[in-house]
Amino acid sequence: MASNARTTPEAPPVMVRVAAKLNLALGVGPLGEDGYHPLATVFEAVGIYDQIAVASRSDEEIRITVEGPQADLVPLDSSNLAYRAAELMRDRWAGAHLGADIRIEKSIPVAGGMAGGSADAAGTLLACSVLWDLDTGPDDLQQLGAELGSDVPFALVGGVALGRGRGDRLVPVISRGTHHWVFATSCQGLSTPQVYRRFDELGGAGGNWVPTALIAALTSGDIDTVAGCLGNDLQDAALDLRPDLAGVLEAGTEAGALAGLVSGSGPTTAFLVSDEATGRTVAKALLELSQVHDVRVVRGPVPGAQLLPGTLQARM
Ligand code: C5P
Repeated sequence: MASNARTTPEAPPVMVRVAAKLNLALGVGPLGEDGYHPLATVFEAVGIYDQIAVASRSDEEIRITVEGPQADLVPLDSSNLAYRAAELMRDRWAGAHLGADIRIEKSIPVAGGMAGGSADAAGTLLACSVLWDLDTGPDDLQQLGAELGSDVPFALVGGVALGRGRGDRLVPVISRGTHHWVFATSCQGLSTPQVYRRFDELGGAGGNWVPTALIAALTSGDIDTVAGCLGNDLQDAALDLRPDLAGVLEAGTEAGALAGLVSGSGPTTAFLVSDEATGRTVAKALLELSQVHDVRVVRGPVPGAQLLPGTLQARM
């Protein structure tokens, strides 16, 4: 239960920054009876961030506002994972009388295969636990995160991690050095359940094997081997639904990327490059394609959900 008066509406908002993810490897096993596919995936958190500010309310409502170029694509009701995160935290740990205003500054592509909704849920869990002064430890946040969605636990921890189960059972992976990435976003999103369904229709050719060669290459910092080990069992399904992405992958590697792949369930495509200058060259080439909406040149790995320092000062 909430332990002190930080739950008053005058308390300053708690601000959290949370990163997007990419699956360096996504091995997908056959559909289980629970409606999910068993995975063996290596996540990397990359430097595209949403910012979440959560403030108390004088009533028990949960309200969401979203800012950013894709704000109109984000639902503001209980179908928003951030809403469900605040509700779950309140019902499980705080008290039914508590409300929250959640403001999301959105930069992670919406429905892009980069776990933007999961990132917002992870950020909201962390922010609510501070706003309401709850005694939740990392394991509690992980457990709540897994109830909200398969990618939420990773969004909390960030870095590089092996995910098993639905992708929610995590083990950290040592990764040496910085990776330079170019991401190409698409005008239209793809629905994750739809991509998994198409994966099944196409015969579900994957297997949830732990990618040991990739993990070894990450640990030794051998970027060329990392590039050779990137892979995504959902890629064929995403390309089947969005054949135009094949041209994006081709253009990125032609322009100098070490490797390219569809990010998660897509439609965002990701390109590993040797350095930032090559990243800018690849980004320029990709921007010329009509099917590319925007490009980002970013680094990884980066941490998971973090309180913003200004907040801590304001609240001391
Ligand atoms: O867990 P999350 O809500 O992100 O998953 C969205 C949908 O993606 C699930 O309802 C399921 O259809 C599909 N999924 C899956 N196997 C996984 C993760 C997600 O089939 N491991």
